[in-house]
Amino acid sequence: MIKIGAERNGLLWALLMVFFFLSGSPVTEAKEYGDIYMDSTKDSMAKADVGAVIFPHWFHRIRYKCKVCHEDIFVMRKGANNISMGDIMDGKSCGTCHNGMIAWEALECKKCHSGELTPAVKNSADANKQ
Ligand code: HEC
Ligand code: HEC
Ligand code: HEC
Repeated sequence: MIKIGAERNGLLWALLMVFFFLSGSPVTEAKEYGDIYMDSTKDSMAKADVGAVIFPHWFHRIRYKCKVCHEDIFVMRKGANNISMGDIMDGKSCGTCHNGMIAWEALECKKCHSGELTPAVKNSADANKQ
């Protein structure tokens, strides 16, 4: 009886591992439920030596009504907004609030660029530097 139980646990474990495998790598994609991993400007980010942006959507959603951001500031689709640091520093995009008045200014890169770029992107940026 005990043996059958152990085998069953083994099977459940195997199914669980397959599930984690199929669902990708949640560790690099998102720190927390509701986080949006942003890397559409990955080549420029790699050159500037900053990581990918992890936008804590949920953190913002509980503080603001959707219409504060959608669709005036951001189109409601992952990767559909052409966000640049120039715009942010000009008080547009994330800089609508991250301007030192509504929320902290975008000076500490790691606060937003807290994610990892893929090794392939990092390597090609390093190759271009040489
Ligand atoms: C502080 C601004 C902000 C608020 C408030 C906000 N969002 Fe978003 N939302 C964003 C940003 C930024 C993105 C990512 C856009 C991108 O990747 O270019 C996004 C993306 C989305 C997406 C697309 C996700 C995907 O995977 O394609 C949906 C759906 C969405 N928001 C719904 C909502 C809803 C519903 C609310 C209110 C409950 C809300 N948002 C409130 C900023 C906000
Ligand atoms: C509508 C206003 C608004 C917009 C637009 C906005 N933020 Fe924020 N964000 C805030 C506020 C307010 C806080 C909380 C500041 C504090 O705690 O001092 C915050 C906090 C954060 C934090 C820290 C979360 C934590 O766990 O402490 C990150 C990271 C962040 N924002 C990234 C972004 C990025 C990236 C964008 C653009 C894609 C963006 N924000 C757009 C208002 C905004
Ligand atoms: C408030 C959040 C926030 C902070 C703080 C921030 N960034 Fe960004 N950054 C973004 C977002 C959002 C993008 C666009 C992400 C995407 O869609 O690929 C971006 C894109 C970039 C890009 C590529 C696009 C471009 O404009 O060249 C570079 C380079 C960059 N950031 C450098 C920096 C550096 C260096 C710092 C610190 C001085 C910094 N960022 C601080 C949110 C931030």
